[in-house]
Amino acid sequence: MWDERVPIHAASDYYGLDRFRAGEDPLRAFEREEVGDVTGRSLLHLQCHFGLDTLSWARHGAAHVVGLDFSEPAVETARALAADLGLTPDRAAFVAADVYVAAEAVPDSSYDIVYTGGGALCWMPDLDRWAETVAALVAPGGFLYVAEFHPFADSFDDETGTRLVHDYFVRDPWVDTTSTGTYADRDAATVHNRSVEWVHPVGAVVTAIARAGLRIEFLHEHDMTLHARYENLQRQDDGSYRFPAGHPRIPLMYSIKATKPAS
Ligand SMILES: C[S@@+](CC[C@H](N)C(=O)[O-])C[C@H]1O[C@@H](n2cnc3c(N)ncnc32)[C@H](O)[C@@H]1O
Repeated sequence: MWDERVPIHAASDYYGLDRFRAGEDPLRAFEREEVGDVTGRSLLHLQCHFGLDTLSWARHGAAHVVGLDFSEPAVETARALAADLGLTPDRAAFVAADVYVAAEAVPDSSYDIVYTGGGALCWMPDLDRWAETVAALVAPGGFLYVAEFHPFADSFDDETGTRLVHDYFVRDPWVDTTSTGTYADRDAATVHNRSVEWVHPVGAVVTAIARAGLRIEFLHEHDMTLHARYENLQRQDDGSYRFPAGHPRIPLMYSIKATKPAS
């Protein structure tokens, strides 16, 4: 499914590769603020797709970034983009591997910052194993940063985000075999349409990270998101989407920073 979507996404206005090559920064303002200064630091981006966010952290001064994704076409596209930007593999490397075997696949044993999100955790069947894998890759004194779509938002109707229609605590995966196209191009003709997603409640994510030995520094909930999750969300000047003024809000995204003790 992801392999088929890579060229569609690469050609989409949603990802805007030409704008990115010209210098546009796709990182969200809250991420830049919460992650802070990355100058001189090493950063591992898990489920990097074709690396726009990964390469953006390099543009912000990270000394060495590594993107990991299990889609070979995504990784090949990321490598080509890095070359377009003049970033050699010692500055920006990309590896094709499953998150669960990241420790064996990435070039270094640990990183100052491990970064993930934007539609990543929902593809992970085993949250505890994910947290253990990720925590092991954080260097002592470093941190994990997750910026994700809030799963509570998926419990509500697509039109208004006000009617509760899906169970937040569902354990079984949601298997979809009928939806064609992709979030970046709804009308794209796709043939590989079977997807399997899990709802990981925010409490379960925080607990898994803490159990894996990291210290939760914050859990922030955000009233904005990155696409028209409900039909009544309004696009803002910065490209984010929010409920209309005065409309009751629910959290649409969340972010977590969790540190590993220095010794
Ligand atoms: C929504 S996309 C990427 C999100 C990213 N924030 C972005 O917008 O570019 C999710 C990515 O996860 C990758 N992925 C899904 N399951 C994976 C797994 N088990 N191991 C590694 N990558 C995985 C897919 O190939 C895809 O590129």
